[in-house]
Amino acid sequence: MATEIAACENGRTGLPGHVAVIMDGNGRWAERHGLPKYRGHEAGMDAMIGIVRHASDLGIRHLTVYAFSTENWKRGAEEVKGIFQLLLVYVRRELDELHRNNVKVDVFGDRGAFSKTVAAALGKTIEKTSKNTGLRFHICLNYGSRAEILAAAKAVCADAEAGRLGGYGPGLAGFDEEAFSEYLYSAGVPDPDLLIRPGGEKRISNFLLWQTAYSELVFSDVLWPDYTPRELDAAIEEYLSRKRRFGGRG
Ligand code: IPE
Ligand code: IPE
Ligand code: MG
Repeated sequence: MATEIAACENGRTGLPGHVAVIMDGNGRWAERHGLPKYRGHEAGMDAMIGIVRHASDLGIRHLTVYAFSTENWKRGAEEVKGIFQLLLVYVRRELDELHRNNVKVDVFGDRGAFSKTVAAALGKTIEKTSKNTGLRFHICLNYGSRAEILAAAKAVCADAEAGRLGGYGPGLAGFDEEAFSEYLYSAGVPDPDLLIRPGGEKRISNFLLWQTAYSELVFSDVLWPDYTPRELDAAIEEYLSRKRRFGGRG
């Protein structure tokens, strides 16, 4: 198991192969600038585009961003509507450039709750970039890690009941962590090497609980809209100074 967890290191450059980001601090950024929340989310989208470009230029293989959680529905209807409207604008506006840069986009999260327009725009983006071979950009939308794990557990039960897991032996004895991972949104994606949380909070907020078992955590007080490629470089520097042991002696 340890070799699988460690497998994502980008051997050539030593960079993290998979960087995950909790894009937090849009609301406080807006407040500090005396602007409505919507402007904070808009500035956050700009920051996201800058970080996608930079990650792609650096040759990072996977970038996963937390854009909207299953808990974020608790916010006012106007704020939620604004976030999804911005998403539409940015997905449409950036699609060609993402595609030109060979970025492959997908979504982690329950898409059942999206409006038809949002679902169609995301579907088009995923479809258009599906054959690209550069950076893989995973957008977590209506994503919650507990919901993801619970849905995976239910899907395993359904497959077991339908007799599709017979190959794993009696009592699913051979059904291991790797097999379970295939039921998550992140199926086939190596675990994040580096998890970054800007915005000053020091918590995980229901993000990739399974996948970050051995990720290096880097926190920053910079609010997400102010997060630039320089901040990403600093986080990667910090990551490179860490000694990863995966429970062993290193
Ligand atoms: C993150 O910024 C964006 C989403 C959660 C959708 P916030 O809106 O949480 O910003 P703060 O934490 O209130 O500053
Ligand atoms: C985490 O930020 C979710 C996203 C960045 C999408 P929140 O602002 O929702 O997290 P809490 O509420 O501070 O834990
Ligand atoms: Mg927040």
